[in-house]
Amino acid sequence: MEKFTAQDYQMKTYGEGLQGKRPLLSPLWNKMEEDAYAKMEEGARSYIHGGAGLSHTVDNNRNDFNKYRIVPRMLKNVELRDTSTRVLGVDMSAPFFLCPVGVAEMVHPEGDLAIAKGAAPTGIPYIFSNQGSFPMESCAAAMGETPHFFQLYWSKSRALVSSFVKRAEACGSRGIVLTLDTTLLGWRTGDMDIAYLPFLLGKGIAQYTSDPVFRGLVEDEIALEHPDLDKKSPKYKEVFGQTCAILFTKIYNNSTTTWDDLAFLRDQTSLPIILKGILHKDDAKLAVKYGMDGIYVSNHGGRQVDGSISSIAALPKIVKAVKKKIPVLMDSGIRGGADVFKALALGADAVGLGRPHIFALTLAGAEGVTEVIRQLQADFELTMALSGCKNVTEINRACIVKS
Ligand SMILES: Cc1cc2nc3c(=O)[nH]c(=O)nc-3n(C[C@H](O)[C@H](O)[C@H](O)COP(=O)(O)O)c2cc1C
Repeated sequence: MEKFTAQDYQMKTYGEGLQGKRPLLSPLWNKMEEDAYAKMEEGARSYIHGGAGLSHTVDNNRNDFNKYRIVPRMLKNVELRDTSTRVLGVDMSAPFFLCPVGVAEMVHPEGDLAIAKGAAPTGIPYIFSNQGSFPMESCAAAMGETPHFFQLYWSKSRALVSSFVKRAEACGSRGIVLTLDTTLLGWRTGDMDIAYLPFLLGKGIAQYTSDPVFRGLVEDEIALEHPDLDKKSPKYKEVFGQTCAILFTKIYNNSTTTWDDLAFLRDQTSLPIILKGILHKDDAKLAVKYGMDGIYVSNHGGRQVDGSISSIAALPKIVKAVKKKIPVLMDSGIRGGADVFKALALGADAVGLGRPHIFALTLAGAEGVTEVIRQLQADFELTMALSGCKNVTEINRACIVKS
């Protein structure tokens, strides 16, 4: 892992400014977001923006951060600073990770593989998406020593669930992040307005097309639908591709899932299981009761239920309910070091960076991903120190007030 401090980043940036050079990505993330959306094709722009309904949840995710305000303390000797932490047995250079974001190939030909390459030198973990554009094994190889997790959607095929989990174990993932909030696709008005769903074009289904169980299911389907088709013919290849996309839409999610199904997942793996999409304190308590290893507070970046509670508003009650029995992660709306600090002050152990790393990927590929991570790391380090904390253990509820 490359050594990194906020002051190095600042001095490099200001120093290069003397030669007329600007940073690879603007630290003004609103500007970065605008530039990235301007560069994207219409389908990608709509899918990544992608709020459900009127996008009120997307707005709540941002606005509610501002309901909490940091109260900096002075004269605390913050000369020796440490942003690192350890969560779920995993060392992290700062208390954040990259969220699972599907179909990254829409903005960069190397998609999630480029994200993995960008995260690798930083020591910031990356959660590979179930809807990745590259198989988890290739992303895992690109991560080197930097930890990774695998995000799972509960498929209608248990054999497929099992296969994904075994593959994640085999390629060195440090945990399974089971996303609970997408047992059905949300009412994504922007995508429907332009009648666009990337999966139907065969995008974002690489975990499936690289999976022996899924390929077997596709072959069975073809044998039923086209019993006379020769496996060696060019037509078979074409039909195989189409059938992958169709079968994926039929089986990728499962709205019959209940808490009792978690026992099946527990039986498949000894890896930690983290439940993503928890917003209610009683669900957090159930997660503990059902033997889960971590809770991940998230509303999927406002893509599933419009008019929903923001993640930052849901966090305090969940932290209280969990009573430190298992770690609590959160995402949805993280856009700077102050947000990371506030979430930690409210009891999160680490937070997820979502859309911004996709904007960085759009504008500058793998290098952009490294850069956006460095910017958040530097911003967090300075926020922490200037608020009077030397390390993450010193950040607590007394560091912020509710305004
Ligand atoms: C384009 C896009 C695709 C996403 N794909 C997935 C996914 O495959 N699996 C998942 O669990 N979450 C997915 N998410 C949700 C993210 O993991 C995360 O919860 C969200 O981006 C956080 O909100 P923010 O980006 O506004 O900070 C996706 C989000 C976006 C924007």
